[in-house]
Formats: sequence, C-alpha cells, structure tokens
Amino acid sequence: MIRGGVAILDFGSQYSQLIARRIRELGVYCELIPGNESIDRILSIDPGAIILSGGPASVYDDDAPQPPPELFDTCLPVLGICYGMHLLVQGGSGGRVEGGHQREYGPVKLEPDGASLLLQGVKPGLQVWMSHGDWVADPPEGYVVTASTDSLPVAAMENRELRRFGLQFHPEVDHTVIGVHVLRNFIFEIAGLSADWNMSTFRKMAIEDIRSELGPEDRVILGLSGGVDSSVVAALLHEAVPERFVPIFVDNGLLRLGEREYVERTFRDHFGMHLMTIDGEEVFLSALAGISDPEHKRKTIGRVFIELFEKAAQDLGGVTCLAQGTLYPDVIESVSFRGPSATIKSHHNVGGLPQRMNLRLLEPLRELFKDEVRILGRELSLPDAMVSRHPFPGPGLAVRIIGEVNRDDLDLLRRADRIYIDYLRDHGMYDEIWQAFAVLLPVQTVGVMGDLRTYEKVLALRAVTSRDGMTADWYRMDTEHLARISSLIVNRVKGISRIVYDISSKPPGTIEWE
Ligand code: XMP
Repeated sequence: MIRGGVAILDFGSQYSQLIARRIRELGVYCELIPGNESIDRILSIDPGAIILSGGPASVYDDDAPQPPPELFDTCLPVLGICYGMHLLVQGGSGGRVEGGHQREYGPVKLEPDGASLLLQGVKPGLQVWMSHGDWVADPPEGYVVTASTDSLPVAAMENRELRRFGLQFHPEVDHTVIGVHVLRNFIFEIAGLSADWNMSTFRKMAIEDIRSELGPEDRVILGLSGGVDSSVVAALLHEAVPERFVPIFVDNGLLRLGEREYVERTFRDHFGMHLMTIDGEEVFLSALAGISDPEHKRKTIGRVFIELFEKAAQDLGGVTCLAQGTLYPDVIESVSFRGPSATIKSHHNVGGLPQRMNLRLLEPLRELFKDEVRILGRELSLPDAMVSRHPFPGPGLAVRIIGEVNRDDLDLLRRADRIYIDYLRDHGMYDEIWQAFAVLLPVQTVGVMGDLRTYEKVLALRAVTSRDGMTADWYRMDTEHLARISSLIVNRVKGISRIVYDISSKPPGTIEWE
C-alpha cells in the first residue's frame, strides 16, 4: 500500500518501534525497514521522508550497518537520530564523529540556537533524552549546528538546502518533552506530508486489497478464536468477500464460560457469517487425559487442533487461502535488523498448515499495532467488549489448570474465573488491567465450612499490567476488593476453599502459570 509516508531505516535501536508509533499517532503512515536494505526496497514504499534510527553500533565498528549509499543521492528529507545522525556525518564530508569514551544516558537540557527549522518553536532549557556513546564533534560541510547541551557541542545539526537533519537525542521517547513537536516539524513543515492515515482509510484500502488479491475461485478460511486479532480479520474479510469466507471456530473444551455461545452469537447471528464451529471437546479432553507435563499438554493441543482444522478445511473443499491475524510487531520481529527473534508468536496454532495444504496466506493486519487493531475493530462495528478483551492463550484453560486437565476441574475454574472477571468489570478495573484470570492449583488444603472440616482446592488469582505482554507487573488491587472476590468465589464455587493472589512480576515470572 502506498501512502507517501515515512520509511524508518532501523539500525537496531531499542526505540525503533517507538518512532513508528509516534509517526502513526500523528496520522502518517510509516514502515520500519532494516537499515541496510537495498535502495529499491526502501523506495518501493514510495516514502515522502526518511528517518535513520539509532542503534547500538559505532560508525567506527568494522561491521557497522550502513544505509545504501544511493540514499544520499535522493532528494528526500532525512532525519538521523543518534547513530542515524552519525551516519549523516559519514555520508557527508569534513565532519567528525568522536568515539564514545563514556556513555551518556538520561535527561539533559537542550539549548537550541533559535534559528533551526527542525527545532522551530522549541524553547531553551527543555528536557531531552540521551542514550549514546559516540557524538558529533564537527558537523559535515553544508550543515550548521542548531542546538547544544552542557556536555555536547552538537546536539542537533541541519543542512537546510538538502533537508537533512541530525539529532543526538531521541525525540521518540516520552522523556523528551518536545519530541512529538520536533517530529511534527519534520513530517509536516519540512517534508510536507499530510495526516491522512487513520483506521477509516485503512479499512477502505484493506478491503480493496483483499478483493484485488483474491481471484474469483479463491475461498478463504480463518481460525477464529474470539480474540481481538482474529475477530477483526473476520470482520474485515466478511465485509470484503462475504460469500467466499468461512471462519472456523474450534471449541476445544478449554474455553471460558459461555465463550462458544458468545462467539457464535456475535459472528453468526449478529454479522451473519458462515461460521463453522468444530465441536472438539471430546477429542481434546480424551487426548489430554493423563498428561500433566505443560509442554506435553501444549503439543497435544496443537496437534489435535491442526488435525481437526485440516479436516474441516478439506470438508469445506475448494479452500485456497488461510487468513491470519499477524500484527506489525510480529512482522518487525521477523524482518528486523536484529534478525528473526525467538519471541515470534506462532499464530493461532495453525503452524505448518499453509504449506501442507498448499494455502496462500492472507495477513490483512500485518501493518498494524495492537491498539490500531482495536480501533479498526470498532470501525468495523465489532462489540466494544470483544475489542477490548484481555488476551487469552491458544491452549486455553489447559495452561490455567496446573497438572492434568479434566472436565470437573474445567467446570470449577470456569465458574470461579467468571466471578472474578465479572467483578473486575463491574468495579471499573478490567480496562486498567492487561490480563486477569484464575488458575486452579493441584493442591488441596484443609478448611472449615459451617461445622464441617473440608479438604478442597486452592485457586490463584492473577492480574497484571503490561504494554505488550513481554514484561508485566502485578496489579496493585485494593485489599477490600480482594476480600470480596475471595468470599464470592468460595461461597459460590463448591470445591474451592482457599484463594491466593499472585504478586509476581514478569520477569522473573511469566504471565500464565502453566
Ligand atoms: P507468558 O505466560 O509467556 O505469556 O508471560 C505472554 C502472553 O502470551 C499469552 N500466551 C499465549 N497466547 N497462544 C497464544 O495465543 C499461546 O500458546 C500462549 N501462551 C501464552 C499469555 O496469555 C500472555 O498474554
């Protein structure tokens, strides 16, 4: 898709994704491209401006990553941030980067010269965020120094004629208070781009793309989980090619209370999709019988899922494409300058299926971040409760029952989890939390109920805050709320007599218990 947006050349900075976020928040499309890609690849998105990101390397390293030299022959405006600024010095003549003898990390006060194009409207003495070893001692020919700090003679430089700008500090991080202002100057005032990227535009373009990508004979399936990503893909495909799209929902018997009915109501009844439900409870539960090792459980669930999904696709006949809810962070992870990362998610448990069944992949969300997907979901009229749902793992409640999974324990956990989540919703906490759920432990403890001594199960409650699930902190829930949730569950769910609240962060813990 072409939008005359911004190509961000990624040289491995921990902040590269943040640059992309900021620019999209300004309503401008952008893509992260590995910094050492070919010029053809970079120009293939028809950029209206280029940003060179920071990165951990020094331009003096033997293997220092370099942008294609032809980049400097284009007349596109370029903003180099930190390492990207040092590349501008290298790409010009007469400038000098000083090797870092000491890293500078943290907030400093910026002193702009008042005449800078890029720093127009930036008052002196405001805080910016530094994170660098090397620094620019002399700007290259044609550049003027436009800002300094107590410790750096060249905190910003620019060549107005060529529209090239360098910043030693990071405008993309929140701690740089003028960061968004500076990015706005670059994108709108200097590059002259317009703010026409929003989810309504995206929706129209995505639908056109899907229609033009599919031939008249193509038939698309999707593993619909009821989670945000696959639900949004379903709504998009339904709008684009309603007659040729079949979402497949696998009821693996490991779902939350009422989940299957909720998904069927939403997609079949409300949207009128040709939803296919696979009733897999028996098959999954008998395959899981006797297995308590978490990895073994996961593998078993994955295997049975693929078997059932493949059979359903064959039964449908004529299926040529598989749609998936791949998001932009997953795409970046796999093409990133740092190379494929171990954290890449295996989507919706259908790994291997596209090759085996010779299906083409359709990934309409691969340019979006999670919060953009949520906005798109609302744009497509998905119910708000579905769009703002907490993540739920593919293997379902099997990772929330420690040890062997059986129907009775699933039933116990489902009822307790529902009480917990309803309480969080009713008391305005659900949306503050990244993910909350209950975990059933294979531990029985002594209790008293009335005059009777009991010997029943322990339930753990988990609630975490997080930006992306990679790291997380436990949610500081008010103890009065905890007390009320605890007594609600113990009073209503026979079989659970003790409740604990998990106060571990990630790392070192994980979000799920497994
Ligand atoms: P952990 O437990 O590793 O989880 O801290 C991080 C996030 O990933 C979710 N999760 C999964 N999601 N399939 C998924 O689609 C899975 O197999 C899976 N395992 C964990 C977890 O709920 C949390 O949001």
